[in-house]
Amino acid sequence: MFRIIIKDTKEELNAEAFKLVKEVLDTKEQPVLGLATGSSPVGLYELMIKDHKENGTSYKNVLTWNLDEYVGIPRTHEQSYWTFMRKNLFDYIDIPEENTHVPVGDAEDEEAECRKYEQSMEGHPVDLQVLGIGSDGHIAFNEPGTSFDSVTHIVDLEESTINDNARFFDNDPTKVPKQAISQGLATIMRAKKIVLFATGENKADAVKGMISGPVTTDCPASILQDHQDVTILLDHAAASKLKNF
Ligand code: F6R
Repeated sequence: MFRIIIKDTKEELNAEAFKLVKEVLDTKEQPVLGLATGSSPVGLYELMIKDHKENGTSYKNVLTWNLDEYVGIPRTHEQSYWTFMRKNLFDYIDIPEENTHVPVGDAEDEEAECRKYEQSMEGHPVDLQVLGIGSDGHIAFNEPGTSFDSVTHIVDLEESTINDNARFFDNDPTKVPKQAISQGLATIMRAKKIVLFATGENKADAVKGMISGPVTTDCPASILQDHQDVTILLDHAAASKLKNF
């Protein structure tokens, strides 16, 4: 079920997402957060850091699992998602490093790493999963055509995704890794609650497909129509192709 929230500013959307995070932190003994990288969640992470500093909210008992990581670059690469999480969140809160999980993108045996990552989540259902959405409707790196039954797997990135992410690699698409390791759609659907951000006009088609299109692997995010608790946070540009809003 979708709860759709449309606001004028990114700040208002971040505040809505933060409320959901705080509710999980306040009510669970060992909260489990599913985290994303990219531009979408950065403002939310800033609010979490601010709240930790100002109100002492602790992350000592929190467990996190990230959605994905590029294949072929080391963790210490400045554009790895592991580095992203340190720079944008983990370095500024009191979460023990061993409580955080990001797939290893340069594992010797990639398939074994996928299995290991999926197994690491067993017994720790995600209380709240934070998501962004790609302009092609991907969630995590599950590109169009990915099976709804997929679990953590190796993904060939679409050209549109490589171009979208070139902004983090000197605007040079040839520098963007061509593969990623990603939680599958079935993995994501196991989360108890989901909060998804989409802002900007280039997300409008994907948002329309997700919310009012058919449930089809052509738009991976459309699988969320079958989830019981999804909050979708939109600005007016991302909501511009929806009818009745
Ligand atoms: C990131 C991820 C991706 C992004 C999506 C949107 O961990 O899984 O699915 O959420 O590509 O990216 P932004 O937020 O940069 O527009």
